Amino acid sequence: MKRILTGLKPTGDLTLGNYIGAIKQMINMQDEYDSFLFVADLHALTIYQDPVELKERIRKFIAMYIACGIDPQKNTIYIQSENEYIPAISYLLECNTNYGEASRMIQFKEKSKQNANFSVGLLTYPILMAADILYCDCDYVPVGIDQKQHVELARNIAERFNNKYGKTFNLPEPLLSKTGTKIYDLKNPTKKMSKSEDNPSGVISLFDDLPSIVSKIMRATTDSLNQIKYDPENQPGISNLLNIASSLTNRSIDDLVSQFNGKGYGELKKYVAEITANHIGEIQKRYEQIVNSELLDEILNKGIARSRELAQQKYEAMKLKVGTVRK
Ligand code: TYM
Repeated sequence: MKRILTGLKPTGDLTLGNYIGAIKQMINMQDEYDSFLFVADLHALTIYQDPVELKERIRKFIAMYIACGIDPQKNTIYIQSENEYIPAISYLLECNTNYGEASRMIQFKEKSKQNANFSVGLLTYPILMAADILYCDCDYVPVGIDQKQHVELARNIAERFNNKYGKTFNLPEPLLSKTGTKIYDLKNPTKKMSKSEDNPSGVISLFDDLPSIVSKIMRATTDSLNQIKYDPENQPGISNLLNIASSLTNRSIDDLVSQFNGKGYGELKKYVAEITANHIGEIQKRYEQIVNSELLDEILNKGIARSRELAQQKYEAMKLKVGTVRK
């Protein structure tokens, strides 16, 4: 059975973008793949997080994964920081990564510009991500397009390590969904919908109350062309709404465009608002039943045991290869 893996970092509440870009892909594939899904809490620490809020958010993420439809029987679900082999593997990978290639990562370039006092963790972030991906020899990594470059770096590091020390890692591939590789901010549809955005009016959180979801979509920025067409370059707002609708209903963009052909933007918005609120409403009902359940700890204990076992094996194999052994 081929293996898939992905992680999400708890820097804010999960968004509709995270759901469509990563979680939904995992749900669609969980019947046919050995699936690993984790909370990337170490990745969250590259910028300061309030410790009390972080702790709460980690648990909310796990409960939300399951509420979204991640089946704990079919997935290995865990918290990244509970696997101490991951940072150890990451260090061995760091020593096989060029400073130049790490500093060329788009996300590093953008974020290091935003804050002159950025941490070293921001630079090594994609190498920790490579450790997350490579320890379990996964085949595919379902992600949104913003993480594609990081998965490609993981693949390059793995290839270099294999060439230097002999075959140690499987080479993973990023997997992007057909629609929804990037869901844009509703107010500024040229910018990614992001959980760390300060202005919440363009971001749909999976925890938003349903009237707010409807109102955010009804007030989404569009254009003055007055035609419902899928044209991300010239009509980013309308195209974003079509992508959201297509991802949530599994209907094709063409089908949606022909349904709304000749109709006003208000009608499309009403449709997208209704399906999004219904979809998230169902998730929230399940979330309430799960969040305080003791089952969560059972799921996490089982998940981390499997993850640690695989990571320990990989770490020991790497140590043997590089020569950090007693005899
Ligand atoms: P993070 O937490 O920023 O995002 C989690 C996942 O959601 C996707 N995503 C989106 N997809 C579509 N539209 C959007 N607006 C949108 N916003 C986010 C991201 O592409 C991602 O797939 N570094 C990772 C976490 C991570 C990871 C890993 C992922 C750590 N280790 C190993 C995969 C494999 C991150 O910060 O994702």
